[in-house]
Amino acid sequence: MTTTDYINWTAEEIRRLVRPNILRATPYSSARSEFKGRADVLLDANESPFDNGMNRYPEPLSTDIRMLLANLRSVDADKIFIGNGSDEIVDQVTRVFCRPGQDAVHALPPTFGMYKVAAAINDAAFRGVTLKSDFSIPVDELKASWDEASKILWLCSPNNPSGNLMDAAVVEDLIRSFPGIVVLDEAYIDFIPEESFVPRLDEFPNLIITQTLSKGWGMAGARLGAAYASEFIINLLRTIKMPYNINVLTKAAALEALAAPKLMHERVALLISERKRLEQALGELDFVDYIFPSVTNFLLVRFTDSDKVYRYLLDKGIVVRNQSYQPNAENCLRITAGLPAENDALIAALRAFKN
Ligand SMILES: Cc1ncc(COP(=O)(O)O)c(C=O)c1O
Repeated sequence: MTTTDYINWTAEEIRRLVRPNILRATPYSSARSEFKGRADVLLDANESPFDNGMNRYPEPLSTDIRMLLANLRSVDADKIFIGNGSDEIVDQVTRVFCRPGQDAVHALPPTFGMYKVAAAINDAAFRGVTLKSDFSIPVDELKASWDEASKILWLCSPNNPSGNLMDAAVVEDLIRSFPGIVVLDEAYIDFIPEESFVPRLDEFPNLIITQTLSKGWGMAGARLGAAYASEFIINLLRTIKMPYNINVLTKAAALEALAAPKLMHERVALLISERKRLEQALGELDFVDYIFPSVTNFLLVRFTDSDKVYRYLLDKGIVVRNQSYQPNAENCLRITAGLPAENDALIAALRAFKN
């Protein structure tokens, strides 16, 4: 593909990608978000007046969190949407752009499973184009798979479960040529030194970037993800969101974590060194066939008989993720780097495995 094949999106063309009923929809509005100004007496929402830190409904747009993220990621807060984990955003993006029974999404297996789940729930066709054996993107094959029904292309970089970063030039080429919305899932961005695509958002009107507090920030249980996109796309996500999708306890925890990124960086550094230690130790085992290079907090490991190893580890009380059902991941287990003692336990168990 040459630059002449690149799409110069107009606002109207982006608008035409949206499901018509979503364009017409009016978001839920609470009295408190309609009211601008200071109020000392809140009798508008049928809440309990007894203050326990969570008796009031949360502010709907998570503005305080968006301000912190805007600062951390060097982007305008109006270009950020906060979701109940990036899982929620995967579903919302599918819902905004795919007309049930008509439109299609594209993804590159082996990859994160929710893209396919969201497509099935929303009755969108799922078109998977398998990554090459080194888990790079088969660009020509992917381009040959899209047509008028194509609405979303999911790119996951670094990719789960393969652990590799996609080539930024290829990602850029795909964003510029895909005839719909490209979602770049940067869930593992905090583990890599390379720059996120967020600072380049304004170059790409059809791009949505997702990130999460579940990985590097260590808050998977709190459920908080972010989408970065044009104000037009962010407003569509706001239109269809549940009124209070982020609860006050999560917000408080997220504000505390985001205000102290040093702790996140220290823990990420430890997990990276643990991943390297695991890689070294597993590489010495004769029933380990191959360890795929990873830039994340996990390793994809091909065993001579993954089912046997998987069951053996379960028997020892160690759970890893079986990825054998995914294309190009036959006999593969995905192993997350844990605490040093947990990794020691895994290594000791595997050393005792009788092939
Ligand atoms: C690539 C990728 N995206 C998104 C998610 C989900 O993130 P969240 O916890 O924010 O829903 C995961 C979780 O494993 C993931 O691997």
